[in-house]
Amino acid sequence: MGVRSLGYVRLNSPDLKAWRSFGEDFLGMMRVEGNTPDSLYFRIDHYPPRLVVSQAEEPSLGALGFEVLNKRELAQLVSAVEAEGIKVSTGTDAERAERRVTGLAKFDDPAGNPVELFYGPILDHVRIQTPLVSSFVTGDMGMGHVIVTAEDVETTFDFYSRVLGFIERNTAGPTYFMGCNPRHHSFGIAPTPGPGKLVHIMVEMATIDDVGLALDRAADMNIPMMNTLGKHTNDQMLSFYVYSPELYAVECGFEGLRVEHEEPTYEITEGALWGHKFTPPPMPPS
Ligand SMILES: [Fe+2]
Repeated sequence: MGVRSLGYVRLNSPDLKAWRSFGEDFLGMMRVEGNTPDSLYFRIDHYPPRLVVSQAEEPSLGALGFEVLNKRELAQLVSAVEAEGIKVSTGTDAERAERRVTGLAKFDDPAGNPVELFYGPILDHVRIQTPLVSSFVTGDMGMGHVIVTAEDVETTFDFYSRVLGFIERNTAGPTYFMGCNPRHHSFGIAPTPGPGKLVHIMVEMATIDDVGLALDRAADMNIPMMNTLGKHTNDQMLSFYVYSPELYAVECGFEGLRVEHEEPTYEITEGALWGHKFTPPPMPPS
């Protein structure tokens, strides 16, 4: 029992125009219409939109959506989360309809990051079309991965591993990388003071040319680079990172490691075998 994959990410943003261009013209996701006319919905596969950006005055993480097997497992996980003293709310009909899921539960993790558990994505069977990207790698590995922060990493790690069923893949000092399917990590937690927040989102593309072409688009569109092309030591992902409109990092990856069996955890001492040269974020517009 436990979370099966990262299903979706929801963001709140004051600048949907920037996100529309970032999602559609840079990342190459398929923009579709959804239930809320002024939200952006992006598909990358046969699932309901994996990235949803909603209009808001302040940027924030709306939710990390984690998929579970079915109704029974959702009920079991909700009980387990409630047993930790965390308040869980059931998704309303409107929330389930907007996310295109059959069952939905919502709560904040111990660091304050908004989490949603869902089962039963409602497929629409309109063929995915992403002309800029040959395809995104999802399937049994879900949408990709996310890294969030926590002031108390140990407590948050304990919650995700013991309660939600994530498996520790490796550590990098105080940072944990965790898996819930063959993707090396679907989730990570890094320490920072204050409430939890989103650090980065990774989507995996099917070919090295997809990543190279995305690199060209970033340059053409003046999207600020965070990490140059490089290869990670833990998931072996060939990738680069840019800054999104709200300066979350977004990683475009290729050929990340599949971990088919549970393996002992390990510590890494470098993030990259090569590349990933870091540039700090541009100053946010005042
Ligand atoms: Fe990453």
